[in-house]
Amino acid sequence: MNRHREQGRDLQQYAIRLFGPDDFARVCVLEEGENGAPYPAAVFIRQASQLYPLTFFVSESGSSISGYTIGAISQDAPSDAWVLRLKVAPHYRQMRVGSALLQALVAALRGKGVDTICLSVSPENAPARALYQKFGFTVIATEPGYFGDGQDRCIMILRV
Ligand SMILES: CC(C)(COP(=O)(O)OP(=O)(O)OC[C@H]1O[C@@H](n2cnc3c(N)ncnc32)[C@H](O)[C@@H]1OP(=O)(O)O)[C@@H](O)C(=O)NCCC(=O)NCCS
Repeated sequence: MNRHREQGRDLQQYAIRLFGPDDFARVCVLEEGENGAPYPAAVFIRQASQLYPLTFFVSESGSSISGYTIGAISQDAPSDAWVLRLKVAPHYRQMRVGSALLQALVAALRGKGVDTICLSVSPENAPARALYQKFGFTVIATEPGYFGDGQDRCIMILRV
């Protein structure tokens, strides 16, 4: 259990652990977000839980799931992996939950023999880019239209 303190205040308590079946509905709500659609969110989370059970972490804050991260090891290059998701519920941001999730994922991937971790992030996503840079990720390319029109992405990598 991690407890983040700031100026004497208890901001948040959370525990990082692997995703379990009981987390499905709560993680789907986070995956869906404010403007998302329930069905694709549920499909992705269900499939990810089947495919990546050992690299799918959640942060538990009391009875809430405050965030999650999903990593995937490349099938044709098992020393490479991708961070597919890293998301913290708005109410729990800037309390180190994202850092703790990413730390758990990086450690798990390293333990499985991964030496290169990749991810894509919007050039405009300053919070995420700052977090990744803090972990040592560097931008190796910026890909216009990576996810379609207007959806440019920076590709970042970390050697572990
Ligand atoms: C990106 C995200 C996961 C960060 O989670 P978080 O729990 O708020 O991050 P942390 O509290 O662990 O912050 C770690 C570092 O990230 C950076 N950071 C986090 N939020 C930031 C913000 N709003 N502005 C600038 N830097 C920020 C800081 O460098 C911070 O270190 P510091 O606290 O020493 O300044 C969260 O904002 C989020 O879920 N965003 C929406 C989903 C998303 O964009 N995911 C990434 C997709 S690639």
